[in-house]
Amino acid sequence: MRVAVIGAGIIGLSAAFCIHDRYHSALQPLEMEVYADKFTPHTTSDGAAGLWQPYLYDKGDAPETLWNKETFDYLLQHINSWEAKEMGLFLLSGYNLFKEPVPDPTWKGIALGFRALSQRELELFPGYSYGWFNTALMLEGKSYLPWLTNRLKLRGVKFFHRKIQSFEELLAEGVDVIINCTGIRAGELQPDPELLPGRGQVIKVEAPWVKHFIITHSKEHGLYNSPYVVPGSKAVTLGGVFQVGNWSEENSPRDRQHIWEGCSKVLYEWTGFRPVRPKVRLEREAVSHGAWRSEVIHNYGHGGFGITSHWGCAMEAARLFGEILEGRKLAKAPSSHL
Ligand SMILES: Cc1cc2nc3c(=O)[nH]c(=O)nc-3n(C[C@H](O)[C@H](O)[C@H](O)COP(=O)(O)OP(=O)(O)OC[C@H]3O[C@@H](n4cnc5c(N)ncnc54)[C@H](O)[C@@H]3O)c2cc1C
Ligand SMILES: *[C@@H]1O[C@H](CO)[C@@H](O)[C@H](O)[C@H]1NC(C)=O
Ligand SMILES: *[C@@H]1O[C@H](CO)[C@@H](O)[C@H](O)[C@H]1NC(C)=O
Repeated sequence: MRVAVIGAGIIGLSAAFCIHDRYHSALQPLEMEVYADKFTPHTTSDGAAGLWQPYLYDKGDAPETLWNKETFDYLLQHINSWEAKEMGLFLLSGYNLFKEPVPDPTWKGIALGFRALSQRELELFPGYSYGWFNTALMLEGKSYLPWLTNRLKLRGVKFFHRKIQSFEELLAEGVDVIINCTGIRAGELQPDPELLPGRGQVIKVEAPWVKHFIITHSKEHGLYNSPYVVPGSKAVTLGGVFQVGNWSEENSPRDRQHIWEGCSKVLYEWTGFRPVRPKVRLEREAVSHGAWRSEVIHNYGHGGFGITSHWGCAMEAARLFGEILEGRKLAKAPSSHL
């Protein structure tokens, strides 16, 4: 069985890890390859702040809520392990602030110690009259992606720096299953009209005294378009910009001004694109090209919550992979021991 993963962001690497872990002993040999034209530290997943926080409300859309929960629970199991530092994983508490009372989010039972703010706490944030406090997790792509890459290399997974122009090219090379984890790409590999860039620009500052995340919310500006502060292990990420449909990769001075709220020394700026879609596309598709038959598992469109949902999605991708194997009578689905 030859499996090709396209994409080396958090979604591609974690799907590769999960599938390899579950099926390498059942499938002898399982040849796994990862193809990407950008690797860590140059992917969107590297630029993300890395905070586990789902969107505030999920339209009652159950799969994403489940994947976010599975990701939280999986990461929490590793929080005290000796690998946490190398993974870029740690607990982080902080505030979500609003200008008016709002309903609790669907994830209030997933994050730890979720509660509404007291009057005294609100006095710390002039201009805001309502808010939540909770403990969540940070998973920094700049550590987690190299960690995943090393784990995969130790398992014999091969990496290729190559841009894939079409699925047919991999089919013709004899690949049995393709996992499509390409994040945001316009007009390439058969464009998906539902997928849009959610342009984000951030400033990284040195402010080691900042120990809590602070995310403000504004009805008129929309999600992540009002200021947020997310402290990481080395720098603090300042946002927020979320411009759906904007393909400009330039760091805009106007956005910088919008973000800049009287902070200290600027380390660097970065602009990236959230793969925005009405919902994540995580499903199987049969593809063929002449005599070549293959299956694709799509795993993309994680918007502004790819870190938050990656592990649940990796497990779902592995389950779909198991379905393909059962269909070909190659293996029974084993359970994960990760
Ligand atoms: C400013 C900003 C802040 C964010 N903060 C957070 C946060 O705090 N928490 C959170 O959960 N999410 C956050 N996100 C969202 C998160 O970054 C994304 O959801 C996530 O990184 C998507 O991961 P991915 O692996 O799908 O895509 P990417 O990381 O973009 O990886 C895509 C991969 O596919 C490869 N590829 C694409 N096309 C081809 C091709 N044709 N051939 C070969 N290779 C190809 C690329 O080279 C790359 O390796 C943020 C995003 C932005 C922009
Ligand atoms: C693969 O994923 C990309 C998103 O990056 C999407 O635009 C494309 O339609 C997918 N490919 C196919 C053949 O569906
Ligand atoms: C898109 O981003 C650029 C900055 O690179 C900015 O100048 C422009 O105003 C943005 N467009 C929209 C519609 O937000």
